[in-house]
Amino acid sequence: MPFQLKHEQIVFSGIKPSGRLNIGGYIGSLSQWAEMQEKYTCLFCVVDYHAITVKQKPSDLEKWTLELVKTYLAAGVNPKKSILFRQSDLSAHTELAWILNCTAHMADLKKMTQFKEKSLGQKETVSVGLFTYPVLMAADILLHQTDIVPVGEDQKQHVELARDLAKRFNNEYGRVFEIPESVVRKNGARIMSLQDPFKKMSKSENGAGCIDLLEDIEEARKKIRRAVTDSGNQIKYDKKNKPAISNLLTIYSHLSRRSIDEIEKEYEGKGYGDFKKDLEGVVVDFLSAFQKNYNKISDQEALKILEAGRERAEEMAQKTLVKVKKLIGIK
Ligand code: AMP
Ligand code: TRP
Repeated sequence: MPFQLKHEQIVFSGIKPSGRLNIGGYIGSLSQWAEMQEKYTCLFCVVDYHAITVKQKPSDLEKWTLELVKTYLAAGVNPKKSILFRQSDLSAHTELAWILNCTAHMADLKKMTQFKEKSLGQKETVSVGLFTYPVLMAADILLHQTDIVPVGEDQKQHVELARDLAKRFNNEYGRVFEIPESVVRKNGARIMSLQDPFKKMSKSENGAGCIDLLEDIEEARKKIRRAVTDSGNQIKYDKKNKPAISNLLTIYSHLSRRSIDEIEKEYEGKGYGDFKKDLEGVVVDFLSAFQKNYNKISDQEALKILEAGRERAEEMAQKTLVKVKKLIGIK
């Protein structure tokens, strides 16, 4: 039976299976997904072809893929409401990426901040895949006629590119793509390292500055205890003068689902010590509940969900691809 689109507007997002997701990625992107299922037709993808733009151990790819599916589910994504699937299960993604590679300009891709950062120091041996990565991301988005793309701050530029490519293609060949828009959190779109509030908390930096969603609870405690703070002793959100405390307040607010104003009020007259002790509790409670959900899901279930998702995602993808190929003169 064909999957019935319940809501008119379409949401698409994805994460690479290249390691464990941390609380930054959770707050910036994944935590938005569960709510969106109630209002939109949602597709959540495990983007494995994106993962291989940097060297991966082949035997790890499946492991990280299943972990990521379970992570989506533990964060409240419901396979009865949303489509969860693996990018490589639909060849239409890479096919459209190739076509869009011929629409994208070198100048478009040379502007991409993430490429500049990731290729730093690699010079001529950086993969071409890493360079055209944003085009594959545009294909993911445009193939499913996406309206809304929830992501963290670092992906906003890539969604802009998807918009530009959609408009350019539509102008040149005829209207086929919806023009997508990114949804980036006002506060929380860029969670910073616990060790350096000027550096993004990231998968690649798995040290004391980064807490994974599947982190050992005692380790997570230690990381909060060791988190750097600013000078002074007041718990105040002030990104310019108190970047470290502002980051911790943002984490506190999202993981406890309380507003920053409310938290600031609670800590009026108190110091960093009290605040960090409570933040430790907030993080531990959050991680424990998350991991409890996670551990309920088996690899077998995750695989089944991907299989069902593949069938559902295929329909729209093929529809778009057939139209695109016809427009460019390929049967
Ligand atoms: P990654 O973990 O880099 O594969 O990113 C997965 C998703 O999480 C993307 O939408 C990112 O924009 C988002 N993200 C990653 N790191 C952070 C961070 N430190 N703060 C907020 N969002 C993030
Ligand atoms: N590039 C994104 C990241 O690194 C992952 C991604 C791939 C994505 N395709 C996407 C995100 C489509 C949103 C929509 O996090």
